[in-house]
Amino acid sequence: MKKQGIIAPSMLAADFANLQRDTEMVNRSEADWFHIDIMDGVFVPNISFGMPVLDAINRYAKKPLDVHLMIVQPERYLATFKNLGAAVISVHEEACTHLHRTLQQIKDLDCKAGVALNPHTPINHLEEVIKDVDLVCLMSVNPGFGGQKFIEHTYSKVSRLKDLILKNNATTLIEIDGGVNTANAKKLLDAGADVLVAGNFVFGASNPIETIAWLKQI
Ligand code: DX5
Ligand code: ZN
Repeated sequence: MKKQGIIAPSMLAADFANLQRDTEMVNRSEADWFHIDIMDGVFVPNISFGMPVLDAINRYAKKPLDVHLMIVQPERYLATFKNLGAAVISVHEEACTHLHRTLQQIKDLDCKAGVALNPHTPINHLEEVIKDVDLVCLMSVNPGFGGQKFIEHTYSKVSRLKDLILKNNATTLIEIDGGVNTANAKKLLDAGADVLVAGNFVFGASNPIETIAWLKQI
């Protein structure tokens, strides 16, 4: 049976001068989640947007918010993001000294607990916690910017992650973040991905609603 991906447009590529319009476009589309990129200028070499902007999106968003924290010491802000409407919160493995504790804190807030891995971070860093992880966000670009080129090595990481999940009888979702487009979306789903994030591919398209519909039917 054909597997449908969960599609999460990244609001980083939306028009910030028309956030209500772009949020309502995603509401009307076949997209499943909103992907929200929070960058602090320390963990990654860029600052995206913070709480007031997320609050504005949340006022109009009618689908779950998938919050990707590219920040140091993310544990300081988990409750804040929960209060701003987060359904999924992903922290970076590279930013968490006490990842196990941080995952429990996310779950205690009744959010899905996600871990994001930079392109250089081996899958085996998740071996001891995979059963506690609801979603792994595999970065298929170096985090910090939208519109970058997809890193081909991601396919083999998806397969190794899928093996780890199956070996542990876990139900963890695999999300791919960065450079998703026509050239790789289907191959990623076939390799075992469950969630596709797409920023520029969606918001840079002449018809974003149709582009999202295409991602749903591949
Ligand atoms: C990168 C962000 C991504 C990004 C994806 O640091 O985490 O979510 O917005 O954008 P595209 O799809 O344009 O690569
Ligand atoms: Zn992201």
